[in-house]
Amino acid sequence: PGEGPGIGGRLTFEPVAPNTEDRVTVAEGYDHAVVVRWGDPVLPDAPAFDFERQTAAAQAAQFGYNCDFVSFHPLGRDRALLWVNHEYSDEQLMFRGYKGGTNATIEQIKIGMAAHGGSVVEIARVGGTGRWKLVTEGRRRYNRRITAETPMRFTGPAAGSDLLKTAADPTGTRVLGMLNNCAGGTTPWGTVLTAEENFNQYFVGADKAPEALKPSLKRYGIDVSKPYDSGNRRFDRVDERFDLGRHPHEAHRFGWIVEIDPFDPDSTPIKRTALGRFKHEAANTSLARDGRVVVYMGDDERFDYMYKFVSKGRFRPGDDRHNRTLLDEGTLYVAKLTGDSPAAEIDGTGKPPSDGAFDGSGVWIPLVTGDKSHVEGMTAAEVLVHTRLAADKAGATKMDRPEDIERNPVTGAVYVALTNNSSRTAAQVDEANPRAANKHGHVLEILEAGNDAGSTRFAWSIPLVCGDPADPSTYFAGFDKTKVSPISCPDNLAFDPRGNLWISTDGNALKKNDGLFAMPVRGRDRGHVRQFLTVPVGAETCGPLITADGRSAFVAVQHPGETDGASPDTPSSHWPDGGSSQPRPSVVVAWHKHGRHIGA
Ligand code: FEO
Ligand code: CA
Ligand code: CA
Ligand code: CA
Repeated sequence: PGEGPGIGGRLTFEPVAPNTEDRVTVAEGYDHAVVVRWGDPVLPDAPAFDFERQTAAAQAAQFGYNCDFVSFHPLGRDRALLWVNHEYSDEQLMFRGYKGGTNATIEQIKIGMAAHGGSVVEIARVGGTGRWKLVTEGRRRYNRRITAETPMRFTGPAAGSDLLKTAADPTGTRVLGMLNNCAGGTTPWGTVLTAEENFNQYFVGADKAPEALKPSLKRYGIDVSKPYDSGNRRFDRVDERFDLGRHPHEAHRFGWIVEIDPFDPDSTPIKRTALGRFKHEAANTSLARDGRVVVYMGDDERFDYMYKFVSKGRFRPGDDRHNRTLLDEGTLYVAKLTGDSPAAEIDGTGKPPSDGAFDGSGVWIPLVTGDKSHVEGMTAAEVLVHTRLAADKAGATKMDRPEDIERNPVTGAVYVALTNNSSRTAAQVDEANPRAANKHGHVLEILEAGNDAGSTRFAWSIPLVCGDPADPSTYFAGFDKTKVSPISCPDNLAFDPRGNLWISTDGNALKKNDGLFAMPVRGRDRGHVRQFLTVPVGAETCGPLITADGRSAFVAVQHPGETDGASPDTPSSHWPDGGSSQPRPSVVVAWHKHGRHIGA
């Protein structure tokens, strides 16, 4: 294998040009391959994928739709497990002639439910390279599908509370399935944390929910004014628990961080209530200096918040039983940021203030510790179930859609992808969200006090204000803007073994395809954004993941062909199978042809 850039070394690849092609393109010197597609076999008895003859039973054994978060769990040098989230189903692209959930066949609704959740699949390295392929023969003992109906349990302070009780679960401790799992993370003890995001879209009948619950349902994006909107998938036609007029607490049972053990296919996934309930985007762990476990989390909504959880107990390497209790007791915090420049100098144009930087200080405000609430008028269970309302009361800073948030394992700095917020007006800008009508988003850097993830104070700055570098409202950490790639709508983050930041995008507002970018965060190349790959028409780039050996980059290509008016009769993408095929969300791996590190 060749050499990659060392610690502090430079990324050297030539960036790929922005494009609108219906394929994956990677930087010169690299190659890529599809690892697993929607419909590929996960369970050993899965039937072959047949777009024209789908069934729910087949889908529940096959790779689900709209792959998002990806994690990699080695089984040795040349074998590994991939965990992949299946965020949501797009019935308009999955079925011919689909006319909405109200008119869908019951089988179509069941296929949609089975297409959600996640997959564990075994993969194998190809010939000593950075390439990996799906294992399709043999026992595949770890392979697993999680769907909208998989039995799960609640733990932590809100488990068993009245707010989680329903007719089907009078104990408030058991729930079926997880929904809209977007990004996630892994724990130091080898499990997956997967984040339920836009769960609001699966419920109907909120107009008939109890009046007392309507303000909180509304704060979570559930329409309480009418039975359902036209885009609803109508899961209630299969299972009445999705009708909030009949089962109003069912909505409280989604919007959690779910812990799953990829090495135990018989284990029950756990919704960890201590980590709060919101439109969870991510859950990335780090350790405080004293060994407590810290989980960084974003709430992806315009004007919503950044959170972190700090465990009460400390991580003990090798003590699995102890470690698996850590996410049930601790303190949940929300972030409040204060700029250090006069408010009058933040004018919404993106022009830096007179001190030259969008920066300042911040505090992590405690909302709840164990079963003790810090929010007046709310119990601990209420804070955890209605976390957004608690954070509103605490005066947290309203951000431009916090997506991924992750600590750099090399430097300790924390990065937040703030994807965009076109609704922010010039009157609403602040130093941490300095651009009005923020179409392209920005990246925030947080330095915890003492570089300790357990601190309650931090400093922050904005190294990257995204967009076309020719646009004067952009900022690339002071790097020469004539040498950087255009970047828009940062969504997911990752780090390579040298601590370079990798950023994937969703919703490129520059009218080009989304992709994966690298940005050094230290030294003279800080801010030198370069595009490493592009994804096909209509797709967003999820994942991303650089393996610990630095030789493979995985990305999940989500919703290829999801463009206005596209359908199976008029597809806008034929990726990855080509010809006249239907688009299939798929995970891709990229590697250097001569075995060098990703980015070299
Ligand atoms: Fe599912 Fe916030 O992206
Ligand atoms: Ca400043
Ligand atoms: Ca996302
Ligand atoms: Ca997104």
